[in-house]
Amino acid sequence: MRVLLPSFSGLLTLALLGSVASLNADVALSTTGPISSISNEKVHVKITLTGDASLTYHAPTYSSKEFWRSKSKPNDPPHFVDWLSDDGCWVGLFLASADTGPYTGKVIDKMDVPLLKTVPVRWFDFPGTCRPGATFETAFSMDSKVREDYFVAVFEGGYSSPVEIGRSQKIIISDKHSPGHVHLTRYQSTDKVLVSFNSAFPVQQYVQFGSLPGLYKSTVPCSATAAPQRSDFQDVPANSSGYVDLGYTHRADITIPPSSSPVYYRVGSDSLGWSTESSFKPPLPPSADLPTSVVLLADYGVTYDDGSKYHWLEPDARNNTRHIAAMISEIDLVFTPGDLAYSTGYTSKWDKYSTQIEPIASRVFFQTGKGNHEQDCEHPPSNGDTPVHYLGDDSGGECGLAADFKLKMPTEGSGNEGNGEVTEAEGYYSLDSGAAHFVMLNTEVASNPGTDQYNWLVADLEGVNREVTPWVVVMGHRQMWDAQMGDEYLQEFEHVLLEYKVDVAVWGHVHYGERTCPMYKGLCVTEKDEAGYDGTIHLIVGNGGQGLSEFPAWRDFDEVQIHEWGFSRLDVVNGTHLVIEMYGDSPMEEEAPLRDRHVIVRDFPRV
Ligand SMILES: *[C@@H]1O[C@H](CO)[C@@H](O)[C@H](O)[C@H]1NC(C)=O
Ligand SMILES: *[C@@H]1O[C@H](CO)[C@@H](O)[C@H](O)[C@H]1NC(C)=O
Ligand SMILES: *[C@@H]1O[C@H](CO)[C@@H](O)[C@H](O)[C@H]1NC(C)=O
Ligand SMILES: [Fe+2]
Repeated sequence: MRVLLPSFSGLLTLALLGSVASLNADVALSTTGPISSISNEKVHVKITLTGDASLTYHAPTYSSKEFWRSKSKPNDPPHFVDWLSDDGCWVGLFLASADTGPYTGKVIDKMDVPLLKTVPVRWFDFPGTCRPGATFETAFSMDSKVREDYFVAVFEGGYSSPVEIGRSQKIIISDKHSPGHVHLTRYQSTDKVLVSFNSAFPVQQYVQFGSLPGLYKSTVPCSATAAPQRSDFQDVPANSSGYVDLGYTHRADITIPPSSSPVYYRVGSDSLGWSTESSFKPPLPPSADLPTSVVLLADYGVTYDDGSKYHWLEPDARNNTRHIAAMISEIDLVFTPGDLAYSTGYTSKWDKYSTQIEPIASRVFFQTGKGNHEQDCEHPPSNGDTPVHYLGDDSGGECGLAADFKLKMPTEGSGNEGNGEVTEAEGYYSLDSGAAHFVMLNTEVASNPGTDQYNWLVADLEGVNREVTPWVVVMGHRQMWDAQMGDEYLQEFEHVLLEYKVDVAVWGHVHYGERTCPMYKGLCVTEKDEAGYDGTIHLIVGNGGQGLSEFPAWRDFDEVQIHEWGFSRLDVVNGTHLVIEMYGDSPMEEEAPLRDRHVIVRDFPRV
């Protein structure tokens, strides 16, 4: 007898099935030899169910979660995610260490299925019925860099009482120990760059670099940091069914000579192997004469290439990834203010995220901020006095630990460089690139007047020399203003934006694109100072990949609403011109369609 969990009421129908004991699955795999997870190889799976044909099985029923239809493309089909009911069969891809025994812990959300001791990395549902004689063929693409082998297992009992009925032999990953997830991070200082990557072991690894391809004059040893362990996480699913060991992050600061020519580099070691070579343009120093271009997107997530299901779903995140990668030679930095991988305690998603962004993050500086899905939790780590502002279970028990492990961001800002007040856990920082000063706030910790973050922001903006960086951009995850009126708590520091003449404020968290007029306290500002400053334009860039939010009515301060996936771009042309571009979605093979272009013009020098 299967028990219907209270949290599924209204979602799943109670199944009245015969005995499960007599259903078996034969799982045949075909691959093209040892799999290398970062290539595009696929594992083909063929499953045949055998057992007692006299048993009656129900056809699976589905409960659907709808992704919002794009209002700008009303004829496109809406995106649906089907969650299988109690009586269906499904096939999951598991890391070798997974335990497919029944889950017995606390269930906090209907999305925490399938209820196993270790959830699959991802899975496919059997179409049609789940009964003897049925066959099912599918293919998993090996599209994320992992540190373990895999296996495939077949279950009946749907998502709420799954029972394993067959399992494949191991899928051997040939490059599992080699380095991957290569990531460049900038500091305020322009003569050093942080290079990070991931591997299976804490053996000594290196960054090698030089000014010519293939000729590495410098070799810098890396430090190795172990991933948070299961017991470091304080809540489900990160401490239970969602946990996977994320290996080691290797990091080194490399010092680059002042030059504008590209730096060629690779990472790894003779013992574990070397990455392929990549290159990047050195950080742009602050200067009103230097144009700079940055990409902005939030609420991003991951897309597996095979169309399988996984926790949370961002089926078009890969379109944005591809479109950004296509314009990478024009870009200096990517800023993603929060809701990055949507790992939310299902930590294998960090492996896919880091693999997905590598074509971008190994070539330009990829700067992140923290969102609720990285940080918010009921039991914040006690490694600092960081006052978490929004409690809740949005990070699935990660409490920022997994994000800090994967994505170390700078701790200093130009306003107070070296005073040691900003801790890594607080996660806010600033840096200059060409004619612009960029600030990344952490909206998940306190920011109202009197708090550390507020004082830091004021000191940082006070320290900006507008003759050098005439443009100032402030970013954070939760929106201070948007068409739903924004967040009153964040509005408590809005006066700082006006006082320091912040040009653009960039937010995510709500899943659409939006641009406002220059505004203050909910009203458009039309008066300008002598240099042409009126107010802060608020940009929402939360259309990075997660299911789109329904757009509320237009507000008086709205100038553009973009109800489709996409990303935005700021091009600082010179001291007088800044261009905001907002892109929409399109097939990966095509160019991203430009939906809006807006130019801000001011005098230079400012006043
Ligand atoms: C995970 O955290 C929850 C909430 O703190 C706790 O009840 C549960 O026992 C933990 N599970 C494990 C396996 O530690
Ligand atoms: C800045 O760039 C704009 C657009 O290209 C140009 O029209 C303007 O003259 C430039 N301003 C200065 C001060 O060079
Ligand atoms: C994303 O790209 C895929 C593959 O090219 C395409 O089928 C899909 O329609 C694209 N999504 C959107 C929202 O344009
Ligand atoms: Fe969010």
